Amino acid sequence: MENIEWGKLPFGYYKTDYNVRCFYRNGKWGELEVSSSEYINIHMAATALHYGQEAFEGMKAFRGKDGKVRLFRWEENYKRMARSADSIVMAEVSKDVFFNAITKAVQMNARFIPPYGTGASLYIRPLLFGSGPQVGVKPAEEYMFVVFVGPVGPYFKEGFNPVKVQIVKDYDRAAPQGTGQFKVGGNYAASLKAGLRSKSEGFATALFLDPKEKKYIDEAGPANFFGIKDNRYITPKSDSILPSITNMSLQQLARDMGMEVEARAIPVDELDSFEEVGACGTAAIISPIGTIVDRHTKKTYEYCRTGVAGPISTKMYITLRAIQEGEEEDTHGWTHVVEGV
Ligand SMILES: Cc1ncc(COP(=O)(O)O)c(C=O)c1O
Repeated sequence: MENIEWGKLPFGYYKTDYNVRCFYRNGKWGELEVSSSEYINIHMAATALHYGQEAFEGMKAFRGKDGKVRLFRWEENYKRMARSADSIVMAEVSKDVFFNAITKAVQMNARFIPPYGTGASLYIRPLLFGSGPQVGVKPAEEYMFVVFVGPVGPYFKEGFNPVKVQIVKDYDRAAPQGTGQFKVGGNYAASLKAGLRSKSEGFATALFLDPKEKKYIDEAGPANFFGIKDNRYITPKSDSILPSITNMSLQQLARDMGMEVEARAIPVDELDSFEEVGACGTAAIISPIGTIVDRHTKKTYEYCRTGVAGPISTKMYITLRAIQEGEEEDTHGWTHVVEGV
């Protein structure tokens, strides 16, 4: 096993031994190829570079106490990547190619899978893009699918501790009928300025509002938003946010815990009434939100007054983590054990 300080890993790129690649040419996908190069050689007129024909996924593999390595809900990542591909007219990767590529990438880099109990996990980044040339605005005829992996620590340096987020109204990450619900690169490019500004102003991330009316909560940078009150788990329903697989899972856990789930528009004014609020996503599962500041009105909403996450967020976080690490019974069939690692 690699001599890595697992407990100190940031959430970032980490060079591993191999990545897996597949090429779409002449209307069909070829065989999986394994590469030890971190670089790809593509045409300078590739549509990914000019017209943003690019989509990606983010998922994790976890080493459990029992030594097994589990993927979490990989089929949902597959389905989301298929929707993303369709949204920007790219060749879709088949379910088999997706599954074989992610498992191969995990197996071939087994020495980088963080041990159980370190808080770290193996991040898996599938990537699909138009590699063929076009100069007019048209979809490519050739595509490349790449999967690389790397050990990561928590996304927010605070870990499972309350973060401060900032409501921004002068930037949109997606248009009302745009690509916000797909995991395509352009959404992330559009979020960079607001995100960096929020960080420079002392916040973990920007909290975007709905791009049409700027009245409702959309999402928190790279994570969905949820609020808890009166035994209800409430999360935005919006066409401009990414359907988070963590959020889907938390909704199910909330139901399992006897809570009502409401997926609906959440007016900013409602923030005053929540008992707990949080951001959720693969990277951190839940980042409890302690403070929300509206950058424009300066209105401040405070949660976690004791300095730690609320009881419901804490319980959901512990339960989901325990399922991912194989310590809690996986009653919903969310995990898949990777063989040979
Ligand atoms: C914009 C955005 N929203 C939400 C999420 C959380 O989604 P998931 O729980 O599937 O990781 C992510 C991360 O993938 C994201 O990039």
